[in-house]
Amino acid sequence: MNKTKKEIKKILKRHSLIDRDIISVSQFEQSDIEFLYSLFTAVKESNGECSRLLRHKVMTALFYEPSTRTSSSFISAMTRLGGGVIPITEGIQYSSVSKGEDLRDTIITLGCLSDVIVLRHPEVGSAQLAADASVVPIINAGDGIGEHPTQAFLDLFTIFDEVDITKPLNIAMVGDLKHGRTVHSLVKLICKVSRNIKFTFVSPEELKMPNDIIGIANAHGIGHEITPKLDFTSPDIFYITRVQKERFKDQKKYLKLKDAYCITKDDLEHMKDTAIIMHPLPRVDEIHTSVDSDHRAVYFKQVRNGLYTRMALLLAVLHNR
Ligand code: NCD
Repeated sequence: MNKTKKEIKKILKRHSLIDRDIISVSQFEQSDIEFLYSLFTAVKESNGECSRLLRHKVMTALFYEPSTRTSSSFISAMTRLGGGVIPITEGIQYSSVSKGEDLRDTIITLGCLSDVIVLRHPEVGSAQLAADASVVPIINAGDGIGEHPTQAFLDLFTIFDEVDITKPLNIAMVGDLKHGRTVHSLVKLICKVSRNIKFTFVSPEELKMPNDIIGIANAHGIGHEITPKLDFTSPDIFYITRVQKERFKDQKKYLKLKDAYCITKDDLEHMKDTAIIMHPLPRVDEIHTSVDSDHRAVYFKQVRNGLYTRMALLLAVLHNR
């Protein structure tokens, strides 16, 4: 057995999340996060050497909402680990859901056919509902405006890899903080691993970070500022988000807010040289493409880290020791 595969097996012997659902970042302890990060790092360095660790396992990707990165990175992750995939992604209209089947029956059925179900659904709480009905682990790939835990892990691991987290950090979260499930999960997760930070929540009044999330930062003794104005000089991390068009009943309101922020090449001059610019993607107009070649832009690194994070999560949940 080669070195990295041995290392991955060693990590999986020390700790595990076997058969656990992944619904919210709130369910994880510091030791789980450290375990997942070491697994992520080993997978990242493995150059495909873990290609058969999940052979004979099958993952269903059940997506009731559009997705490019999350669905394809889960499918890529499972394929790279040697497992099989039942993809119900853009084909949801061809499944029995279109005949009126409810989520519970769909989950029970897919649990008879696969070992893990990755679920994206427009309703908050749907992942928990699925987990309550399921005999196989459910991985929440986004439940409405609720949470997106696997994105939060990949965001956190990108921060670990790109930023010196021993120094005090100012993390600016920018855009649609009301509907953005990625920022909801990420604030909760960061609060678990660091105290030496300050959040700056930058949004128009209508798209403010919900109070329950702010309450979690407060409970951890983490300071925050709420402002509509984006200051480029002090943040160490810019986490930019898209205004979530699909969450607006009134599209006129969306049109009014959609261009609230746009980072351009000129703004880079005011940022710290060590800062990083993150985005869960897809972007609409929040970051001009001329920013992409700057060394501080890490959003496509996030995509690659998403693959390794999801490989680590699938191994953690499915790998028999
Ligand atoms: C995010 C999502 O679906 O919440 N996308 C993703 O999974 N990378 C962000 C978004 O859609 O704006």
